[in-house]
Amino acid sequence: MRIRWPAPYPGAHWLDAREARAVLDVLRRRSLFRYYGLKPPRHVAGLEAVARRFYGVKHALGVNSGTGALFTAMTALGIGPGAEVILPAFFWVATVSAVVHAGAIPVLCEIDDTFGMDPRDLARKITRRTRLIVPIHMAGAPCAIGAIMTVARRHRVPVLEDCAQANGATFQGRKVGTFGDLGIFSLQWNKNATAGEGGLMVTNDARRYERCVAAHDVGLPWVNGAPCDTGAVTWGGGRRMGELTGAVAAVQLRKLPRIIGHMRASKRRIKAQLAGLPGLTFRRLADPAGDTGPFLIFLLESEARAKAVLRRLQAAGLDTAVRLAEYGLHIYSNVPQLTGKVPLSAAGNPWHLPANRASAHRYAHGTCPQSDALFARSILLPIPSCLSRAQEGAAVRIIRDAVEAT
Ligand SMILES: Cc1ncc(COP(=O)(O)O)c(C=O)c1O
Repeated sequence: MRIRWPAPYPGAHWLDAREARAVLDVLRRRSLFRYYGLKPPRHVAGLEAVARRFYGVKHALGVNSGTGALFTAMTALGIGPGAEVILPAFFWVATVSAVVHAGAIPVLCEIDDTFGMDPRDLARKITRRTRLIVPIHMAGAPCAIGAIMTVARRHRVPVLEDCAQANGATFQGRKVGTFGDLGIFSLQWNKNATAGEGGLMVTNDARRYERCVAAHDVGLPWVNGAPCDTGAVTWGGGRRMGELTGAVAAVQLRKLPRIIGHMRASKRRIKAQLAGLPGLTFRRLADPAGDTGPFLIFLLESEARAKAVLRRLQAAGLDTAVRLAEYGLHIYSNVPQLTGKVPLSAAGNPWHLPANRASAHRYAHGTCPQSDALFARSILLPIPSCLSRAQEGAAVRIIRDAVEAT
C-alpha cells in the first residue's frame, strides 16, 4: 500500500476568499505601510487587536518574522556579551542565532520525554551569568512550562517563550506565550496560522512592549503617529510587519481554533488506533488538552528499529516522516555554525569576547546525552490540517505494518 500524504502546511490548506478580500482591501486603500498611508492603515493594528483577544494579553506587536521577533526580544530584554541564555537541545536554529547575534552565549538544556526543556536540567544549567531562559514549545505542543517557570522565578531569571511551532497551544487552559515575560510566534509558511512570513510578540508588561516597539523599528517607540523619545530608546532592527502580511495574518489567526481543531482530532484518532502497539510509545504531552496537533512524535525501542520503521514509512508514502536525529537544523548537533562555533566577525564574537570568558560553551554531539538518546529512536510525522478519515486509517495501517515487520 502507498498513500499520498498531504503537504504539512497547516494554515495554507485553509486559505480562501477571506484572505483574498483582506489583501484586496489593502491594495484598494493604497496603504501598504503599517504606520501611515493614502488612507489610514488598519490591518496590522487589526491583527494586533485580534492577537490581544486571542492570547488574552495586554500588548501584541506584529513583526516581520519569528526570527525578527527573537532578535527584537534580545534587544528589548537587554541581552548582550556576558550573558548566558539557556535553551533546549531541540530547537530551530533561529533561536540560537538570535542569542549569538546579541553577543551572548547559548547554553544547551536537555529535553525530557515531552520533547521540551527538562526543568530538572534547567535548574542544573543556571549560573551567576544566566540572564534569560528560552523554553521552546516544539512540534505543536506545550513544554512543561509550569515547572520551568517555577525554576526561573526561583532564580529570578526572565523567560522568553518561543511559541513559533505551537501557535494556539495551551497549558492548563492558558495560552502559551503568556507564562513568561515575553512570548513570540511565527506566521511563516509551515506554521499553524500563516501569512507566508510574519511574527508576533506578546507581553503584559507595558514597558517591555514599548521597548519591543522601539527595537523592532527605528529604536524609538511610536506614540500618536510618530517615533517619540519616551525613555525607551534603543537601536532599531527594521523588522516591521507590512499591511499585506497583517491582512492575511488577522484572518488566519481568527481561523486558528478551527485549524487546530482539525489537526488535533486527526492526531487523536490516529493515536487511539495505534495505542498499545508493542514496541511503540508516544511523546509525553505536558498537557494533552493543549496540544495543537501538527506533529505526531513516537518512539521505538532502539535506533536501529527507528531507522528500519522510517524506511518502511517513507516507502509507503509517508515521506514527510523523519527520524528526529536527522531533523536538520532542529537538532543542536546538526547545526554546523554552532558545533563549529563560527564567529560573527574577526573579533570572535560571541565565543571569544572577554565578557564571555567565564562561560562554558559545548555543542558537539554528546553534550546533551539524554536528548541524543531520544532523538536517535524517535520519529516525527507531520499531521496535515486537511486529512480525511480514509487518509488517517491508511497512515495507521502503514505505521502498524512497519512496526510489526521490524
Ligand atoms: C522554534 C522556532 N523558533 C523560531 C522560528 C523562526 O520563525 P520564522 O521562520 O518566522 O523566522 C521557527 C521557525 O521555524 C521555529 O520553529
